[in-house]
Amino acid sequence: MTDFSFPHMNMPSKTTEFIHQLRDFLENIGRIPTLPLLAERILAELLTHAHSLQGWLYLLDQEQAGLYHLTTEQSDNPDNPSAPPRTLPLSHPLVRELARHREILDRFSPHDADAHIGVDSPDFIDCSLAIPFVNRGRLLGFAILRSDSNISAFGQENTDLLRIIAQSGAISLDCLLSYNDLHSSQELTRRTDRLRSLETLAGGVAHEIRNPLTSIKTFIQLTPERKDDAEFIQEFSQVVLGDVHRIERLIDEILGYARSIDPQLTEEDINTVVSSCLYLLDAKACSRGITIQKELAPELPRAMLDQQQIKQAMLNLFVNALDAMGDRGGTLLVKTHAVDRGENRMAVQIDIEDTGHGIPAADLDHIFDPFYTTKHKSSEHEGTGLGLFIAHQIIREHQGTIHVRSTEGAGTVFRITLPALR
Ligand SMILES: Nc1ncnc2c1ncn2[C@@H]1O[C@H](COP(=O)(O)OP(=O)(O)OP(=O)(O)O)[C@@H](O)[C@H]1O
Ligand SMILES: [Mg+2]
Repeated sequence: MTDFSFPHMNMPSKTTEFIHQLRDFLENIGRIPTLPLLAERILAELLTHAHSLQGWLYLLDQEQAGLYHLTTEQSDNPDNPSAPPRTLPLSHPLVRELARHREILDRFSPHDADAHIGVDSPDFIDCSLAIPFVNRGRLLGFAILRSDSNISAFGQENTDLLRIIAQSGAISLDCLLSYNDLHSSQELTRRTDRLRSLETLAGGVAHEIRNPLTSIKTFIQLTPERKDDAEFIQEFSQVVLGDVHRIERLIDEILGYARSIDPQLTEEDINTVVSSCLYLLDAKACSRGITIQKELAPELPRAMLDQQQIKQAMLNLFVNALDAMGDRGGTLLVKTHAVDRGENRMAVQIDIEDTGHGIPAADLDHIFDPFYTTKHKSSEHEGTGLGLFIAHQIIREHQGTIHVRSTEGAGTVFRITLPALR
């Protein structure tokens, strides 16, 4: 066979080696899901190329501006008294220098930071290299490395490589920090939305608790004079027990819904989830002359879902349906059924039908947009326009879909489809 390659192509140059190492690093850091792991990976890469054995990587505190925390370290003895402190403020001379120059600082260079700090100063940090992670003009963190060689000793190529690692590390750190920010604000929005639906339901729930309490009170008041009436005691104690169970269930439902728990997928029966949401709504619907009807398919396949989140999505749809019917009465019909999607795939569908005012065709395209609402201050409750947006997000995160059909003046049907287990 003829070899078409050029002879020099078979000789790995220093540059080719750098490129390979860099490519590996860049390919990997994009996939790292958490800040501590990413920090660990960046520090390891820097240590390798700076020929250092000890290093400390600091990241900016997300809540307290101007404070950097030790996030990961590699050292032969973590309790070493000469190890740098666990937190460093922006006012520390070394950090200030990094923020100002945004360049690698080394012990031997002319604008060396710790040259200004005497060995006897409490601010002194025994460090060979300090490498800043800067993105969009922000010092996101820095690494402090300790080694015997100085930066000029291992040449321009290595210095450039350290710079590239630091720069790409900074971009990845920034992406992950922004993602985390986005995630926590999404969490906060969802939590606020959950508490808002509870606020909407609160009146009904209070009423729902007051009723059984009245019957319990009546029983207690009548018992002394009818204590010998076995039939009365037998019958009424059954009623009271049922009432206590109702109160207990309501409290459990409310607490379960309001509690903030980490997202978790569990195998659930959709019918139970639907019933549990409707239980919370019952009193509110009743007080408005709205009938709640359930047509739940028996032996519905179970689905893997985050119960709390699916409840949140459903409650948003149920509350919207009640709002659309207002005080004019009507019917909220909730149906579930299984769908065979072929190829051994199953799904469950939940139809939520109301006889409310409906949605004008022109508005249908906007109802899932964030902050789109027609419930302004003048109406009974002021809307945020986040209910459907969040419901849509939650269903999508469950690989499901949500569709709507509406006839103005007649009513609306929302259909949720979720993948189910066989
Ligand atoms: N079942 C429904 N019938 C009629 N209109 C609806 C129905 N569901 C939603 N809408 C319309 O879609 C809009 C957006 O609903 P969404 O739940 O996102 O916000 P909202 O209900 O206005 O506010 P919030 O959920 O914070 O109370 C509503 O303002 C309403 O105009
Ligand atoms: Mg709503």
